[in-house]
Amino acid sequence: MSKEIARRDFLKAAVAGVAGIAAVGTLGGFASAEEGKAFEGKPKFAGIGSVRAVTDDIYYVGVSDRRIQLFENVYPIPRGVAYNSYVVLDEKTVLVDTVDRSVTGQFFENVTAVLDGRELDYLIVNHMEPDHSSAISEVLVRYPNCTVVTTAAAALILNQFFACDISDRSILVKEGDTLSIGKHTFVFVQAPMVHWPEVMMTYDTVSGALFSADAFGSFGALNGNLFADEVDFEKDWLPDARRYYCNIVGKYGPQVQAVLEKAGTIDIKILCPTHGPVWRENLGWIIDKYVHWSSYTPEDEAVMVVYGSVYGGTESAANAVAALISQAGVADVRVYDVSKTHVSELIGEAFRCSHIVLASITYNMGIFTPMKNFLLDLEAHNLQNRCFALIENGSWSPASGKLMKEIVERLSGASVIGDTVTIMSSPSAADHDALAALAAAVADSVQSGGAAPVEAEASGGKRWVCKLCGYVYEGDELPEDYKCPVCGAGADQFEEG
Ligand code: FEO
Repeated sequence: MSKEIARRDFLKAAVAGVAGIAAVGTLGGFASAEEGKAFEGKPKFAGIGSVRAVTDDIYYVGVSDRRIQLFENVYPIPRGVAYNSYVVLDEKTVLVDTVDRSVTGQFFENVTAVLDGRELDYLIVNHMEPDHSSAISEVLVRYPNCTVVTTAAAALILNQFFACDISDRSILVKEGDTLSIGKHTFVFVQAPMVHWPEVMMTYDTVSGALFSADAFGSFGALNGNLFADEVDFEKDWLPDARRYYCNIVGKYGPQVQAVLEKAGTIDIKILCPTHGPVWRENLGWIIDKYVHWSSYTPEDEAVMVVYGSVYGGTESAANAVAALISQAGVADVRVYDVSKTHVSELIGEAFRCSHIVLASITYNMGIFTPMKNFLLDLEAHNLQNRCFALIENGSWSPASGKLMKEIVERLSGASVIGDTVTIMSSPSAADHDALAALAAAVADSVQSGGAAPVEAEASGGKRWVCKLCGYVYEGDELPEDYKCPVCGAGADQFEEG
């Protein structure tokens, strides 16, 4: 068995070559519509549950959940969510990831149908979060000869979650290890902290499919359509794909960038994420979104106006500034009530827009609670490189402007433009002049591309990379007692590079 696992020099060499993000921008050759659609209409297993053919021997066996209200018990998902899983049929059979326990009935019907009486030889576990792993124990009971292929970190977490010890039936893989199952050879690519430490991706060198774990995923149940080219993705899926990425993975931009660098060196033809549609066309489009999101570069020169208002004065000011910005020629302006817009929607929109106007009452001598939650969530998700403008309201002692500014200024590459407008209860005529000046400053900044990301200055020092999560420490020396701020690993887990 162990002979099947061997280092793949080409991948290591490719990764060492680091084509970089610039290469990711030239992704025209990644996808081939003809190749991707070659298996369209294959009748095998059609009409069985949610099974669909991805290629002639890779089958989608995932399941959508339309009953769930809150993903991770936090994020509203009125469109539901799909838990994606795939079976590869070759001399050996392979299941790539499993599903949430809520949908195991349909899942095992799908798997049973596709295996069509064959044994399951391998289960590849790319990600241990329970929405993809809570069916693993049942897989191992149903298929007693199945060997789990995963990382050491995933095996540990599997045991923590489910008391499932796989030490006698697992192959633990590292970066560049391979598994051959006949025609197909899989290469394992580590993706630590995208968005958990144990995450890896699996690349099939034959089909060009990259089983990418949560990367390139989206909220939203599948509706018979499996492929992104079968739906109007930009219109119907992009907002949920963005909301999914920014809220679930958004904090870990540097780690995503590291994986995108690797992706730029691999001939990917199909992206098979663990949620949402599969990509077989125009891969460069979705990867470009990831380049923007992970580098905290705005997608659009656009303004979001977010207000927190109790009796309408702050809302009136927000509406006024939005109208004035629009009148100044900015087409993309959207206004949000922070009290009734779920914070995950606001986080997604903040990742999209170049400019953010914040208008808040003063509440308990501080920022209005929903607005404070939003700003702290922005900080937690590491949003960077945005222009902010501020409006405060307070009937006797306005303080929210100063306090919002303190949070905003903690965001890397953030700037505050114009003067904070202060309103006492309701906007006065004089306030309208101040709002007009603020709107003009925002419009000027939008039209001059004011939120362009700040180029990081070269540190001039050495770099150490955390082997567990990919965090990069820069400095003259790595302190002996250093702890990784992302995953908590000690200095012994860092390597210079
Ligand atoms: Fe879809 Fe990180 O689990």
